[in-house]
Amino acid sequence: MKSADLVVTDCEHLLTCRGEIPKRKNNLQDVGLLEKGRIASLGGKIVFVGDESRFKEEVRLNENAVVIDGNGLVGLPGFVDSHTHLPFAGTREEEFVLRLKGYTYQQLAEKGMGIQTTVTATRKASQEELCTLCLRRLDQMLLLGTTTIEAKSGYGLSLVDEVKQLETLQELDKIHPIDIVPTFMGAHEIPAEYKSRKKDYIGLLIHEMLPLVREKNLAEFFDVFCEEGVFSLEETRELVRAAKEAGFKIKIHADEFSPLGGAQLAADEGASSADHLIAITEEGINKLSESSTVATLLPAVPFFLMQERKAPARKLIEGGAIVALATDFNPGSSMTESMLFVLQLAVFTMKMSIEEAINASTSNAAYALDMHEGVGSLEVGKKMDLILCDVPNYPSLVYHLGINPIKHVIKNGKIVVKDGEIVAN
Ligand code: NIG
Ligand code: FE
Repeated sequence: MKSADLVVTDCEHLLTCRGEIPKRKNNLQDVGLLEKGRIASLGGKIVFVGDESRFKEEVRLNENAVVIDGNGLVGLPGFVDSHTHLPFAGTREEEFVLRLKGYTYQQLAEKGMGIQTTVTATRKASQEELCTLCLRRLDQMLLLGTTTIEAKSGYGLSLVDEVKQLETLQELDKIHPIDIVPTFMGAHEIPAEYKSRKKDYIGLLIHEMLPLVREKNLAEFFDVFCEEGVFSLEETRELVRAAKEAGFKIKIHADEFSPLGGAQLAADEGASSADHLIAITEEGINKLSESSTVATLLPAVPFFLMQERKAPARKLIEGGAIVALATDFNPGSSMTESMLFVLQLAVFTMKMSIEEAINASTSNAAYALDMHEGVGSLEVGKKMDLILCDVPNYPSLVYHLGINPIKHVIKNGKIVVKDGEIVAN
């Protein structure tokens, strides 16, 4: 008999997302559905997933165990948002209104708006102010069912301000229930003061920032914006190699607007993921399909920027690529904390199936962060990160738009959202 200190009984649908991870091709269709499924944990780790009769044979509840009635609810792993730009100050409504008048994101960036606006605001903010801003956003994410995120620096673009962003993340990880995986993205843009001296900025990144971030152990991943007018393919390669040498795992903002070949580079360099991929080429699709570099798609971005063109999700899935979904939460191109919204956009705008979108937001997203051993699927031994949604069946998560169906969130075996409200901890 196993002991448990928390059990959720009889979920209408319990989606375990278990099985081989990462999931490719047809495996992406398998969400590990259990009808009237039960799940139990002890000390934050899952000890049982199955049905009532097996539960009675195998599990004994501790005296003060928490029992949650899953009747009428759909359970699934907490969402893993594997691409966010969480620690920023200031918002960009002005730029958004100009975009509504017809200016493009890139035209506005050329006028010195865009990322640069957020860099100015973020540099001005103290670590404490940044922390307060992020806490509200993390609460929002938790209420929307996200239990693990990746978060990037990249709005500091100087030694002190990048470190400030990363130290904010370190602090947040300690005080908020959401687990935060930090990424150093000093190569998000060339700061204004280095515009005519890009080589010098690359030198600063390689010789000062990378070693300092490593020494302070402030980030697990390194990310770079490989894009026309930002870092070229050659510059990206140089940065990525230096980051690998310094001990970072790699992510690349690849082929977002121009097909520079960031996807191929990511696969060749063994990156953990290549993200965006709206302008990916056939060669890029083939390379990613044969690699273990995750193709992280961010459908809220073309939606937010009102672009016709979307990432070729179907071709990537059919080719055999490991596809994940993420918000890209940032003030310029994707002002949303909602993984559910992203999942819906993946289905409505990229022709992903509901099941593919769910796996891409949980198990494969965890793989993109190298966290799949612990989160992203509901299996014995993994973390009890579970969301319970007030919908009659799982297709309804995509079918019923514009509501937040997340009723309870369990993180590490503790109820952190109850009846749609954050539980004080
Ligand atoms: O992932 N592509 C580059 N960076 C962000 C946008 C950043 C911004 O506009 O502030 C992105 O889309
Ligand atoms: Fe991004």
